Amino acid sequence: MSTATWASGADASALFRTAADRVRAIDVQHIRDALYAPGGSYRWPRHRINEVELEWRRWRLRHHLGLRDEPPASIRLYERLAVSAGVPPADVSPLAGGGPLVDATYDQMFPQGPLIIRAVKSRVVRRPTDHEVDEEYAALLRESSGRRSDYLSMLDPSGYYWHMPDLISAATARECMKDVEVLLAAPRGESFAGGPQPGWDVEHDALVSRSMNAYLGAGPTLIKIHEDPALVAEISARMGRPMHPTRCTYLRYEKGDYLGVHTDQPTCEVSLLFTIAGDPGPMRSYLDETGHDPAWLDRWVREAGNFPDGGLDFVYQPREGLALTGRAVPHARLPQAERAVIGALFYSGLT
Ligand SMILES: [Fe+2]
Repeated sequence: MSTATWASGADASALFRTAADRVRAIDVQHIRDALYAPGGSYRWPRHRINEVELEWRRWRLRHHLGLRDEPPASIRLYERLAVSAGVPPADVSPLAGGGPLVDATYDQMFPQGPLIIRAVKSRVVRRPTDHEVDEEYAALLRESSGRRSDYLSMLDPSGYYWHMPDLISAATARECMKDVEVLLAAPRGESFAGGPQPGWDVEHDALVSRSMNAYLGAGPTLIKIHEDPALVAEISARMGRPMHPTRCTYLRYEKGDYLGVHTDQPTCEVSLLFTIAGDPGPMRSYLDETGHDPAWLDRWVREAGNFPDGGLDFVYQPREGLALTGRAVPHARLPQAERAVIGALFYSGLT
C-alpha cells in the first residue's frame, strides 16, 4: 500500500500486514468445493472462484480496518457462504473505535487493481470519446497514472522476469498435450482475431493492442501445476509477497498468430509461460519502457503499433518456464512461424 494516511501512526504498516495475514489465513476450502461442484447450485468457473475469493478477502481486510465498502453481489454471496459454513462474520478491529483506522481508497490500498469486473466497473467508467480532447478521460488517465506509479513502486525492476529451468518434465509436457487434445476436440475456449485499437485502457490500467491467437482453456494437468505449493511459494518469494493462482490456460498459436504489445490485467500480475508443443517465437519484453506513464505508453503504441522497435526477445527452451511481471512490463509475441501450444499460468497478490 502506498500513499494512504494512517490514523494510528507508526504502527500502521504492521497493523496492515497483521490484518492481511489474518484474512489470508481464513480456510475456505469447503466453500470452494461447493462453488465448483459439477452438480452443485453455483458451478462457478475456477478462475471466478479464485478471483472473487481474493476480492472477498480484500473486502474483509478493509472492513477490519473500519472501511465499510459496499460489496458487489458476488462478495456478499461469498461472505454468506463463509458464515453459514462456520467462518466468523467480517469484523471490525477494536482499535478502530468507531472510525476507520486508515484513510485509504481501494486503489491506494490495492494499486495492482481489482480482480472482478464489478469492482473494476465501480471504480471508473470508460467513455468512448476522442481521448485527446476529452477532459474526463484526461482525469481518468491521471488517476490511472497514479495507480500505475503506485503499483510499479511495489516491484523490484531486477525481478521483472526470471527463467525457471526444467519447470516441467517431458512426461508432464505429454500429459499437458493430452489436456490440449481434449480441448481441441471440443473447443470451448476463446479466439481473438483483431481486438482493440492500440492505446491505454484506463479501466484496467493496461496497455492494449491487436492480437490473434486462441485461449483453449485449462485442463487437469495444467491446474495441478498452477496450484503446486512449491511453485506458488517460489513465485511468492520472487515477488516478495504472497501470490495466489488466479487463472491458467493453454494458448494456441497458428502460423501468423501474434500478440500485439500490451500489459496484462490485474488478475495476471505474474505470467508463467512454457512450451508444450511446437517452437513458439520469442516473447518480446519492453523492459526499458516499463517505467513510463500511461499517457506516454498510449502515445507510444498509437504511433509505433503492435510491435514497436526495441525490447528484449526471450526464447525459452522446451520444459523451461519464463516468468514475467506482465502487469508492469509491456510485452508482445511476434507473428509465429509455425503452430505452437503454450501453457500459461497467472498469479496475483491479495496485497
Ligand atoms: Fe500478456
